[in-house]
Amino acid sequence: QKEIISLAEITQFQSAAEEFSPLDWYKRKLEQEPISYNEATDSWNVFRYEDVKRVLSDHEYFSSVRARTTISVGADNEEGQHSSGRINLNSDPPEHRKSRSLLSAAFTPRSLKLWEPRIHEVVNQLIKDMGDEPVIDIVKTFSGALPTIVIADLLGVPSKDRFLFKEWVDHLFLPLPKENLEDVQELKRQAAKNYYSYLYPHVVHKRTNLADDIISDLIQAEVDGERLTDDEIVRMTMFILGAGIETTSHLLACTFYSFLYDNDRIYNEVQSNRELLPNTVEEMLRYRFHIAKMDRTVKTDNDVLGVPLKKGDVVVAWMSAANMDKEVFEDPFTLNIHRPNNNKHLTFGNGPHFCLGAPLARLEANIGLGRFMDHFQRIEPVPGFKLEEHLTPSAAGQTLASLPVRVHRR
Ligand code: HEM
Repeated sequence: QKEIISLAEITQFQSAAEEFSPLDWYKRKLEQEPISYNEATDSWNVFRYEDVKRVLSDHEYFSSVRARTTISVGADNEEGQHSSGRINLNSDPPEHRKSRSLLSAAFTPRSLKLWEPRIHEVVNQLIKDMGDEPVIDIVKTFSGALPTIVIADLLGVPSKDRFLFKEWVDHLFLPLPKENLEDVQELKRQAAKNYYSYLYPHVVHKRTNLADDIISDLIQAEVDGERLTDDEIVRMTMFILGAGIETTSHLLACTFYSFLYDNDRIYNEVQSNRELLPNTVEEMLRYRFHIAKMDRTVKTDNDVLGVPLKKGDVVVAWMSAANMDKEVFEDPFTLNIHRPNNNKHLTFGNGPHFCLGAPLARLEANIGLGRFMDHFQRIEPVPGFKLEEHLTPSAAGQTLASLPVRVHRR
């Protein structure tokens, strides 16, 4: 297991609410300490757009092979490791190319087209399950459920097993707490074991029953004459879960939060002009996705950022802060769904590791929000909502554990 760097020691946020909306902190960093060394964690932190982009993409100087990292996912037992040595996305070009090519077989434009109707189906079912309740919890009924069910479906997991699946995933990606660490580790180990022993035979079965799903795509993927083993496929799916579920849930939940509390005119505006939806999703990724940051390890001594970096130093690139850089985004601290260049945000990363699931995440968000608007004419906050009571720490930062919304059906 790699040594985990505590982001809390870098940010020193005073409350969960500040961590959920850290715009003041980003502003201060961008203006006063755009590149700074943090002694407590022995890490460099970069905030400006061009620097963040460079750290993410320049693999000659900044490596994805890490001994220390800010990311804590998976479990510390054999079943909980999601790279196998031969197949490992936490690597640099040229080694990275093979793993990436094998995995990208499952994320082609063709796959995306095939998935579209299935995502519609999942969304329709979720909306149906909301019944006619006047107040719904968006996280429980929608944003938390949608990405897990979609991925379970795309992996070809039978629908009767979805809830089991969701439970393992929830446990696998719990954040590591300061107290009762060992209990949580044990929960993760158990979930990893259950997940592995469920999925392995599923992959074996798929080999002779190919269908239109991610596992079948991975079975057939071939690069330089090499193919993935069953074990590698199981681990690869675990990596996909880690990368694709919590992120997309966070995006959806934050979008509703924004509709309710950042600017209560957006929902109606998009409702009556759906062409604005894709750009709205992009602006949410830029403005309301505050937990994006990624670390790299310095490969050779250099000063490409203007500070003396030594081989082995850890550099944390704060994408969510870079998304607020006024050099790139005009009036960056304003939420503006009409912003022409908001798709330049760095929330999906940049360079060789650019998010493979970005088209899927965008598709889920656009279909999910669009279908929701088809059903619900208006949404309103519930009186007395207190943000702090609805936040929970996640592997990536503070996220909404629940979000009550009063809905008005058509
Ligand atoms: C990589 C963000 C959704 C699969 C990344 C990276 C970021 C990111 C920042 C780059 C990591 C790095 O530079 O080291 C997001 C966000 C999402 C999202 C914000 C949703 C809002 C998804 C989904 C999937 C996915 C839905 C798949 C189902 C991946 C994979 C990689 C990746 C496989 C690794 C690519 C590589 O290392 O070459 N994601 N992601 N992501 N993402 Fe996503």
